[in-house]
Amino acid sequence: MSSKIVKRSWAEPYKMKMVELLKMTTKQQRVKAIKEAGFNTFLLKSEDVYIDLLTDSGTNAMSDAQWGSLMQGDEAYAGSKSYYKFEAAIQKHYGYKYIIPTHQGRGAENILSKILIKKGDVVPGNMYFTTTRLHQELAGGLFTDIIIDEAHDPLNLHPFKGNVDLAKLEKVVKKYGAKRIPYVSIATNVNMAGGQPISMANLKELRAYTKKQGIRIIHDMTRVAENAYFIQQREKGYDKKTVAQIVMEICSLTDGATMSAKKDALVNIGGFMATNEWDVYEEARNMVVVYEGLHTYGGLAGRDMEAIAIGIEESLDDNHQRARVGQVEYLGERMIEYGVPIVKPIGGHGIFVDAKSFLPHLTQDQFPAQALAAEIYIDSGVRTMERGIVSAGRKANGDNYYPKLELVRFTIPRRVYTQAHMDVIAESTAAVFERRKSIKGLKMIYEPKYLRFFQAKFERL
Ligand code: F0G
Repeated sequence: MSSKIVKRSWAEPYKMKMVELLKMTTKQQRVKAIKEAGFNTFLLKSEDVYIDLLTDSGTNAMSDAQWGSLMQGDEAYAGSKSYYKFEAAIQKHYGYKYIIPTHQGRGAENILSKILIKKGDVVPGNMYFTTTRLHQELAGGLFTDIIIDEAHDPLNLHPFKGNVDLAKLEKVVKKYGAKRIPYVSIATNVNMAGGQPISMANLKELRAYTKKQGIRIIHDMTRVAENAYFIQQREKGYDKKTVAQIVMEICSLTDGATMSAKKDALVNIGGFMATNEWDVYEEARNMVVVYEGLHTYGGLAGRDMEAIAIGIEESLDDNHQRARVGQVEYLGERMIEYGVPIVKPIGGHGIFVDAKSFLPHLTQDQFPAQALAAEIYIDSGVRTMERGIVSAGRKANGDNYYPKLELVRFTIPRRVYTQAHMDVIAESTAAVFERRKSIKGLKMIYEPKYLRFFQAKFERL
């Protein structure tokens, strides 16, 4: 007799102990709210949002162990016990030698970029991230994309779209010379590509090449555990290894890192910079005092460092990652059933809807992803985010970047929403898809100088 069970489902390895009530809004209220927000979902008030998929950053639900640890925070200005727990957790699980706490990821990017980049330097990386590239540029560097071409194609099913194209890197090295490349900037589970992993094999090749050239690898490890889970699921030779072991191996192939603990590490605030080089550490320890706080708190409260130490450990649990990525996959599969065009393979931290094929009647200058995010909010109160031309911003000479990918990101906070929420999101997106031809483009009426996507305002065309 054949079994009716096609596959066994993922489920949460936790249960709920406390809930946060949400305000339900009417369509009329939402139309008013999005107009007032200048069609920018970043400018909505969160109380007007039903399901908040703006970001997976700082929006995670902490465990009872993490909440309990807050009471043990040592709030001493210097040499806090909580700092030493935080430092030990990072050294134990990620293997880096020297740690500098920062208030969040971009605090670490600021310090690291200022130390390592000189004016005229070039920083190759596997696709840009907004804050990372801006800090590299503000330090005088020029970011160059060396990710494989497949990453720019939303339909390409390459299992490791975060991989580096070594031929592209070699070209950059030949053109500028290794001396002008302070490091290669490598993100695990590349955010802007749709939460796509880099393979261990690719990272090993990159390590061998950069070692020969005397170039560092700096690791943006914001979503390293999600990347490790994909390696476990997809890469030959890794199916018997734990997420924790794979994370350790990834880190061992790099020379230092910046981390936003607000993602993988299951907290609401925090980050750090890590390095294996004493000289870099010494300078960072001095600089953190200027920009963040003393080198044993770096802008964090003792209790924040307690919660991060526990969050790191919880993030490395295989069952946690299976449910985390499983939930994102569930949402993606529902969207595919409705015919909604999404980036494939389904990524780690969210679903990325391809606004170019969703709204083919709009040009990129009419901000299709920005317009689509506004329409989804109006339909159901689900808040998503533009990841296209607005996020890409302008080059140093003032010209717009025109990214190949024009996406709306449905980012899933960790341990926060249920499968029924996922159904509501998929159904709302499908409803907007059905009336897609009626959706109009936008024009930008206010543009801030830096990271414009956060505060820009728009009007309907
Ligand atoms: N690197 C990556 C890959 C990120 O996704 C982020 C933040 C940062 C660095 C900066 O860290 O926010 O703690 O200063 N990404 C958020 C997002 C904002 O919504 O994707 P931060």
